[in-house]
Amino acid sequence: MRTDEAKLARLAEEYEIGTGPLDWRAILADANPAPDQTVARALLCLSGIEADSQVIYRKIRDARIDRNPYLRRFILPWLEEEAAHGHSLRHLAYLMGASEESPRRARYSRKDALVLWVLGRTMAPAVRATYCVLGTMQEYIALTVYHEIASMIPDKESQLLLQSIARQESRHMRFYRGAAEVLLKGPFVRGCTRWMLRQTWRPPGLDLVDRSTFFQTFGFLLGASLFRDKLCRVDRTVSALPGLNGLSLMSRWLDHRNIAQWDGRYRLRRRSLGGTNTGEGYHV
Ligand SMILES: [Fe+2]
Ligand SMILES: [Fe+2]
Repeated sequence: MRTDEAKLARLAEEYEIGTGPLDWRAILADANPAPDQTVARALLCLSGIEADSQVIYRKIRDARIDRNPYLRRFILPWLEEEAAHGHSLRHLAYLMGASEESPRRARYSRKDALVLWVLGRTMAPAVRATYCVLGTMQEYIALTVYHEIASMIPDKESQLLLQSIARQESRHMRFYRGAAEVLLKGPFVRGCTRWMLRQTWRPPGLDLVDRSTFFQTFGFLLGASLFRDKLCRVDRTVSALPGLNGLSLMSRWLDHRNIAQWDGRYRLRRRSLGGTNTGEGYHV
């Protein structure tokens, strides 16, 4: 077995060994979180992002990413875990007072499908590497968000659910990061990956809800400079990957939108919540 294949096989095995169902119904059976419309709305949106993995799977197939057997071996159980995240977050959102439906993607356009179809057939190695870097970023951001929201909710069962989800996101991230290290081979793949990341990257959720809904929903998190600093650590993780040195997608996105000026508009809502967050970041 070639070295790269052996590395991917080991990553898939490590993921499988650590995988296990999230028994979210049992965790939430005794949950009694205080009503909170702001957090509930964010959880509902996050549940929609998690459930969007079904559309992501169609993209994966169109771009032929699952033709790699080791990625396919990861992707199938990963989809199940993401679906469970979606269900459990929706349930928690309703416990906290949400009443609407989770957002759903309006459409996956034929044009998008065609672009992925062509890319998957003309530059498959770069497409797979890009997918794994994007996965690394999305999972890092997800675990950062879940830890942050867990630190805002005093209810122990709700915290446990969010921390359990964050642990699974951390395992997902380890797979994606390890796979990206293997797949970022040679200057052409690295150059194409850099280019595609710069062209396509947006924070998760911005392709699901419109811009103003996104900022209204997550402004209570993004308005805090400490939280933005934690998000920006994803850039260090990406920069450490082969050929991606100096790429700072998250901090550029935040700077570009001058989100720092929001501190006055979206005040951090930690009142009476006894936050456990130390600002030290999270072990991934
Ligand atoms: Fe998830
Ligand atoms: Fe995940």
